[in-house]
Amino acid sequence: MAESSLHAPALSVAASAIPQLSVIVPTYNEAGNVRPLVAKLDAVLGDISWEVIFVDDNSPDHTAGALRALAAEDPRVRCLQRFGRRGLSSAVIEGIASSSAPVVAVIDGDLQHDESLLARMHDVLMRHDNIDLVIGSRYSSGGSIGEWSASRHAMSRLATQLSRLIVKFELNDPMSGFFMARRDAFIAAAPYLSGTGYKILLDFLASAPKPLRYIELPYEFRQRLHGESKIDMMVLFEYLLLLLEKTIGRYVPTRFVLFCLVGGSGVLVHLATLLPIRLLTDFAGAQAIAAFVSMTSNFLLNNTLTYRDCRLRGRKLLAGLMSFYAVCSIGFVCNVTFAEMLYERGYAWWLAGTAGVLIGSVWNFGASSIFTWKRA
Ligand code: GDD
Ligand code: MN
Repeated sequence: MAESSLHAPALSVAASAIPQLSVIVPTYNEAGNVRPLVAKLDAVLGDISWEVIFVDDNSPDHTAGALRALAAEDPRVRCLQRFGRRGLSSAVIEGIASSSAPVVAVIDGDLQHDESLLARMHDVLMRHDNIDLVIGSRYSSGGSIGEWSASRHAMSRLATQLSRLIVKFELNDPMSGFFMARRDAFIAAAPYLSGTGYKILLDFLASAPKPLRYIELPYEFRQRLHGESKIDMMVLFEYLLLLLEKTIGRYVPTRFVLFCLVGGSGVLVHLATLLPIRLLTDFAGAQAIAAFVSMTSNFLLNNTLTYRDCRLRGRKLLAGLMSFYAVCSIGFVCNVTFAEMLYERGYAWWLAGTAGVLIGSVWNFGASSIFTWKRA
């Protein structure tokens, strides 16, 4: 290779190769929606130079295939395909991290957010140096949630009330999934984000190292035409986790809190099993059966909730259950030995008992995360 080409400037392309705006779209089973969305972006963004980054979690309906076909026609379209993972918030974080544009927007891929607001959002950020974030708001005057069922409406209201636990300032729609921000402001918050669940805007607001300067613009939430909403019990659960992470999560790992809550439920399962079984067999036998039932229910709950991101299935589920029994048996011995030692040294029974449970739980948590769910 000629010496001169080695030293050629790396970037001979004009600086304008970086678009002014990067639109990030999380998708899961939106194959029928992505083409109309790109056409709409093209129609509404006018003079703004833009790119769109779809982050697809390997949707079974082959959204990624549809996106690559689109990308072949339009170089402004990119698809970041993720495997073995799910999550709206984490998809958005990775999409934004992959962008070089100074301004980023986040919009759903199902055409429910009103893309015609994007140009105004961009205009606000261009005109006002002192604004970091523009939020598309369903609850500001002039906005609306469209035709939602009464239960979905009530749920959204309740979730908005709960959000005040982690975002103190007044905001009409902290649960919005539609916003535009300066990329630098988002990246400054990125190391502190929880990344759990659906509510990336709320996470952003709660995690930013400096209070974000924002305004809300009203819009009407539209009906879905193709595909269906992914809101389910897991999404609700992950919302509660986000609240947990942003409150007590600062002091205690959220996974440990969940593990202890599951352990607490195990005590109830144990007693509920003991109640009828003790009538059928001797007490020691009934106690042993109840211990197995509660360990099994603890394992299944931890597998679904505490370790939902590395959930064991099929044959691994059985191997995991066996290792969980082994770990908990050692935890039980630690618990009893430690409690007895304290009790013999004159500590009150309840203090010795609680300390035993705590030592046992910490052991169970640590050892099962390494041996059962293999998160060393
Ligand atoms: N990559 C990825 N991974 N995308 C996902 C996932 C996932 O696990 N789950 C959902 N999505 C995508 C959907 O494909 C869609 O483009 C977008 O995220 C929103 O999902 P919906 O299931 O349609 O959510 P919704 O309409 O009930 O609620 C949305 O709008 C509300 C109002 O702004 C969400 O954005 C809410 O957070 C928001 O409050
Ligand atoms: Mn939707």
